[in-house]
Amino acid sequence: MHFLSPILEEYIQNHSENEPKLLQELTRETHLKVIQPRMITGHYQGRVLSMLSKLINPKYILEIGTYTGYSALCLAEGLQENGLLHTIDVNEELHEMQRRYFDKSNYGNRIEQHIGNALEIVPQLDTIFDLVFIDAEKKDYPNYLEAVMKKVKKGSIILSDNVLWSGKVVEPLNPKDKTTKILLDYNNKLKEDKRLETVLMPIRDGLTLSRVR
Ligand SMILES: C[S@@+](CC[C@H](N)C(=O)[O-])C[C@H]1O[C@@H](n2cnc3c(N)ncnc32)[C@H](O)[C@@H]1O
Repeated sequence: MHFLSPILEEYIQNHSENEPKLLQELTRETHLKVIQPRMITGHYQGRVLSMLSKLINPKYILEIGTYTGYSALCLAEGLQENGLLHTIDVNEELHEMQRRYFDKSNYGNRIEQHIGNALEIVPQLDTIFDLVFIDAEKKDYPNYLEAVMKKVKKGSIILSDNVLWSGKVVEPLNPKDKTTKILLDYNNKLKEDKRLETVLMPIRDGLTLSRVR
């Protein structure tokens, strides 16, 4: 769903940073070889993630949902020189492609891949993260959040993607649509959670930025 007219979207993208060549290549290969290429972050939101990460300048980043590595590469642009990005994906078939692109970038040695269920892997990580990007199974967003809350500190930023769910969050709820119900509850929870300060931004499919109080 387009929240803005396509012409406005195009104008906004054309007046933002260009998409790096490596990410253009990654997008092409994802569309050619990987199922569900619409899951990739894409040019405009990617530049937003890059900018946010540069503003935060995190030492440690956690990403839940690597897919082919596009958003990991955007977030890594803001990492400190001695920083590390941990990225988790349950689909082991994507591991080789992710690594190939990470190694072609300037951040290959600062990105650690994990294969498996984030709900099992996050509790095992012995790191406190400055920046977290949640972009995996929508039904598990509340569970990811609780796992992540044990791995952040005051001032850490948690980003949650696809929170507008193609606009379904403001349409009459189909009782069979469990994902939209969970996202509705998740958005309410982020707003009410006393541990967090939250703004929902109308970027692509909705990106919420929550700061740990
Ligand atoms: C929307 S895609 C991520 C897109 C990626 N962040 C990007 O911008 O290119 C969601 C990914 O989450 C992964 N995923 C789903 N459930 C997961 C889980 N429980 N733990 C880790 N990864 C999971 C899927 O395999 C898929 O690759």
